[in-house]
Order: sequence, then C-alpha cells, then structure tokens
Amino acid sequence: MFALKAPAKINLTLEVIGKRPDGYHEVASIIQAISLSDILEFEPAENFAFLCDSPDWKAEKSLVSRASSLFVSRLGAGGGARINIHKNIPFSAGLGGESSAAAITLIGLNHLLQADLPPGDLYHLAEKLGSDVPFFLTGGTALVSGRGEKVSPLPALPHYWVILLIPADMDTPGKTEKMYACLRPGNFTAGRITDDFISSLAHGDMKTLPDLYNVFERVAGQVFGGIDWYKEQFYLAGASRVNMAGSGPVLFSMETDKTAAEQIVQRLKQQGLKAILAHTLDSLGPAGFI
Ligand code: C5P
Repeated sequence: MFALKAPAKINLTLEVIGKRPDGYHEVASIIQAISLSDILEFEPAENFAFLCDSPDWKAEKSLVSRASSLFVSRLGAGGGARINIHKNIPFSAGLGGESSAAAITLIGLNHLLQADLPPGDLYHLAEKLGSDVPFFLTGGTALVSGRGEKVSPLPALPHYWVILLIPADMDTPGKTEKMYACLRPGNFTAGRITDDFISSLAHGDMKTLPDLYNVFERVAGQVFGGIDWYKEQFYLAGASRVNMAGSGPVLFSMETDKTAAEQIVQRLKQQGLKAILAHTLDSLGPAGFI
C-alpha cells in the first residue's frame, strides 16, 4: 500500500479570452497548488473498489472512478485497485479537488500496476477527464491556456500563507458550466493581466503580490447569492485582499505573515465560519508520495 497527496489549487489570475467553436472558453490562467490536500491510498486488488471517508462522495459521480476506467482501457489489459480517499478539500469549491484526485489516480495506478506510461500518455488521459486535470500532474505554479489543458510550468511563487473561507450552503449542480454561461463578451480580456503577472514572476519582483484577477468574480453574485457578505466578513477579519478560487464559491486571501494569517482564521472561526489555513506549494515533481 502507498499513499499520495492530491493538492488543491487557487487561480492567481483567471482570464477568459473568448468563446470557442467547440463550446468551451479559451482561458489564460496562472494556477498555484496549495497544501490543503486529499490523501489517496492505493492497494492492489483484483477489481476496482473505491472508498471515501466523506458520505457526500459518490464513486459513480467521481472523476476517480472515471480516471481508473480510462487508465485500464488505455492499458488494454485487466487490472484493479482499492483506492481509499481521505477527503479534506471541500466539494465543488473552485479548489480543483476532483480534478486533482483524478490526476493523482492516474499517477497512482501507473505506479501500482507497474504500467510505466510516460508523462505524455498520462497527460492525454488527464485532458480527457477535464480541463483542469493536467495541471495536477505537475502542480506548483503554472500558466494554463487553451480550455485549461495546456500547462506551462512557471518559476515558483515565494511562500505565502493562504486562508480559505468556505461559504456554507452554496452547492450548485453544474456550477462550472453555469459560471461560464454567465459570462458575456464584455467580460473577456486579452490575457495581458496574466502576461504581466508572469513578467513579475520572471523578474523575481514579488515582494508585493501583483493584483490577482478572476473573471468569475464579475458574475459570482448571479450564481452564489450572499457571496458579498462572506467577502465582507473576510475583510472585517483582517484579510488584505480577498479573491474567489476558480469558479467559486471559496474565497481566499494570501498573507506573508503566519501570525497575521492565523489571527484572521481564528476571527473567522469565532464568527462561526469555516476557514482553513494552507500555504503555497512548490512543484515536487510528479506527485507527493507519503
Ligand atoms: O472541462 P470540464 O469538464 O471541467 O468543464 C466543465 C464545463 O465547464 C464544460 O462543459 C463547459 O461548459 C465549461 N468550460 C468552458 N470552458 C473551459 C472549461 C470549462 O466553457 N475552458
């Protein structure tokens, strides 16, 4: 048996450049892996069995089971595994939990079944599973483009504490699709915000973080009623800048000082809100074996 960490992500920039003929949207986004992670344990088994410590997790709806089927059909041979998931990343939050678990399933099965598929093959399987899945094969800091599946690693961001505020009762079926559908041409940008962020990263000019950007913040109120209230609570608790994670609804703030970050988390918790303290992660190669 071995275990792998499947980290969450935040988007430092998330620009939508336009709608594509295939119905997807062209994006330019800088994604950052963070320490909040699910843990996936892999054990040999004749057939596939999936277990999770969260009652809300359903194997048949999960990208983990889809990734497993895709992996064995690519091998063209039988194979199974028992995959036990310890869920820490909130569901449907904008933190990429499902996509990360799918990518780590591919890496774990490649190891467990001694399939030795090269990174390029894993990439092609990952892009079939979802636009955000390929990023999690490498993690760290990366530029993603296309519909999100084209990944270019970037120099690591300096270490930041990342406070996550998880709004309650905002579960929205088909959320990502709905968020994209809310966008209008006036929300599209040319990718310059992302380019400028990359220039700052390349010049090591990160003492103060450039402005973060997420196009979905423009339309979040249409899908997540009450999100502005959560934003306000975050600022009142002392956050310096609040942004939304991916297609939401989780909000985050990045802080350099650990004590300040801990105090913000504590204040949010005193309000009865769900807050988690994490930090940015450098790319550690393919995946974090535990
Ligand atoms: O790729 P994924 O399955 O995660 O995408 C979910 C939905 O989000 C897609 O069906 C599409 O409606 C929308 N989407 C989009 N443009 C992207 C990524 C996703 O329109 N770049």
